[in-house]
Amino acid sequence: MTESSVLSEMQTNNEIEDIEFKLVQSAIKLRYGHCFEFYAQSSLKRRLLHHVGKLELNCLTDIIGPIIRDEAFFESLLNTVSVPVTEMFRDPEFFKALREKIIPLLETYPRVNIWHAGCATGEEVYSMAIMLEEEGIADKCKIFATDFNGQTLDKARTGIFALEKMKLYTENYYRAGGKSSFSDYYDAHDNNIKMVERLTKNVTFARHNLATDNVFGQFNLILCRNVLIYFGRQLQDRVFSLFHDSMAPLGYLCLGSHESIDYSKSRQQFKTIIERSKIYRKNG
Ligand SMILES: C[S@@+](CC[C@H](N)C(=O)[O-])C[C@H]1O[C@@H](n2cnc3c(N)ncnc32)[C@H](O)[C@@H]1O
Repeated sequence: MTESSVLSEMQTNNEIEDIEFKLVQSAIKLRYGHCFEFYAQSSLKRRLLHHVGKLELNCLTDIIGPIIRDEAFFESLLNTVSVPVTEMFRDPEFFKALREKIIPLLETYPRVNIWHAGCATGEEVYSMAIMLEEEGIADKCKIFATDFNGQTLDKARTGIFALEKMKLYTENYYRAGGKSSFSDYYDAHDNNIKMVERLTKNVTFARHNLATDNVFGQFNLILCRNVLIYFGRQLQDRVFSLFHDSMAPLGYLCLGSHESIDYSKSRQQFKTIIERSKIYRKNG
C-alpha cells in the first residue's frame, strides 16, 4: 500500500465515523429529545467512542439500536457523555472566596434563591448547604439543584457518598474555610457515608436541560461550574443569556476555573467581581 492510499483510507474512515457520530446524535434527539448539536463535538465524539470501546463494540452505529430500544442503556451512555465528575468543596479557594466575599452580602437580603445548574451527584450542593448553615443564613436560602441526567439527580437526593472520598473532602472543607468538624455533617455506614438530612431541608433537585429548557425562577446566586467547558460557543451564549434572564438584579454568577464569560455575547451584562474565582455579578 502506498502512503497516499493509506492517507486516503484514513480520511474515508474519519468521514464514515463523522457520519456515524451524526446518526448517533440524531437517534438520541429523536428518541429522548436531548440535543448535543452544540456541545464541543470532538470531545463528545471521543467520549462516545470510549463508551463503544468499553462495551467491546466495533463502531458508533452499533449503539444506535440499543439507544433507541433500551432506556437503561441510554441512561448509562448519558453517564459517560455527561461527565458527572464532581467533589465536595471542589476548588476550595473558590468556596473560601464565596464564603468571605459574597455570603456576607447575601446575608443582608431577606431571602436568597440559589441555583446549581449541572449539579451532577450533588456534592457541590451539600458543600453549599454546609457553608450556608455555618454562616447562619441557611433558613432564608432556597436551593434549586438541576441537571439533565436523572440518574445523577437520584444519587444526589440520597446524599450517600463513598467513605473513601472523605479524606479529600475533609481537606477541601478546611481549605474552604470550614468552621466546624466535617464529620459532623455525615454518618458513616460500612463503606459509605450519608449526609445529615437537615442539609437538604431547603433543597429541590430537579431535571433541567440547559440546552433546551427555559427560565424557572429569579436567583440571587447561580453556580454553573465545570459544565460550560463541554459546550460550544453557541450553546454557551444561550446559557449565559438564560442565566441573565434567571437572575435578580445584581445576582452573582459563578463558573468553573477553566470557564469564562469573557468571549460571550452576554459579557457586557456582567461585571467581574473576583477574576481568580470566576465570580461575576449581573449589572443592575
Ligand atoms: C463535570 S459535572 C459538574 C458538576 C459540578 N457543577 C462541579 O463543578 O463539580 C457536569 C455536569 O453537567 C451536566 N450537564 C451537561 N450538559 C447539561 C445540560 N445540557 N443541562 C444540564 N446539565 C448538563 C452533566 O450531566 C454533569 O452532571
